[in-house]
Amino acid sequence: MDRKLEPELMEDWKQVQAYAEADFSEPHHNFVTRICEHIGFDFSGKALDLGCGPGNISFQFAKTFPRCQIDALDGSKPMLDYGKNTCPNALIKQINFIHAKLPLSKPPAIYDLIFSNSLLHHLPDPQVLWQTIKQCAGKDGSVIVMDLLRPMDEKIALQLVEQYANNEPDILKHDFYHSLLAAFTLDEINLQFAEAELTLNIQQVSDRHVLIKGRVT
Ligand SMILES: C[S@@+](CC[C@H](N)C(=O)[O-])C[C@H]1O[C@@H](n2cnc3c(N)ncnc32)[C@H](O)[C@@H]1O
Repeated sequence: MDRKLEPELMEDWKQVQAYAEADFSEPHHNFVTRICEHIGFDFSGKALDLGCGPGNISFQFAKTFPRCQIDALDGSKPMLDYGKNTCPNALIKQINFIHAKLPLSKPPAIYDLIFSNSLLHHLPDPQVLWQTIKQCAGKDGSVIVMDLLRPMDEKIALQLVEQYANNEPDILKHDFYHSLLAAFTLDEINLQFAEAELTLNIQQVSDRHVLIKGRVT
């Protein structure tokens, strides 16, 4: 099945609210655990969350690494506003929200760690993510990216929606289905690395997720 793009930014207020209020605690916890495995538990550097949405992963990351600073970046103002308004007081000093749409004309800073969950499939041109990572990563900077994988056909996409989002509001089911159709395959992502001249480890970690990690040398 060919890739079918979905709207790049999530700017519709109802969509933002449904996404922000959905219970992604398990996948987000899982992602932060994978970050810990990748960078160790004593990280104290500067991190960048690309496509941070309402900020839940940044919040969890900041709690896990109280000595680090995070720039949480998103192109959608409603998403960022939601994140700013719900950021726990204890984390306000650690998290800096940046309203910016990739590609960036210049990096906001140089980072020891760049992470991103569920941004890649939103981008019409995937090189925008890989080039931003190259632009923003410090020497030997760590990278960890999680995203959806595009299923073989629409029937399988519908089955995945039924299996994993059956009890969610219609708007979330709609977004999940269209995100699956907009996602990349493992082969496509490997080709993207070759084009970007990045050597990253890629692994399918569930029936619908890919995990990418490594260092920008
Ligand atoms: C599916 S959400 C993921 C949010 C968050 N990372 C999470 O896992 O909960 C994707 C986010 O990427 C943002 N986004 C899409 N394209 C972008 C771009 N070119 N630059 C910055 N943000 C972008 C969207 O606005 C949206 O908030």
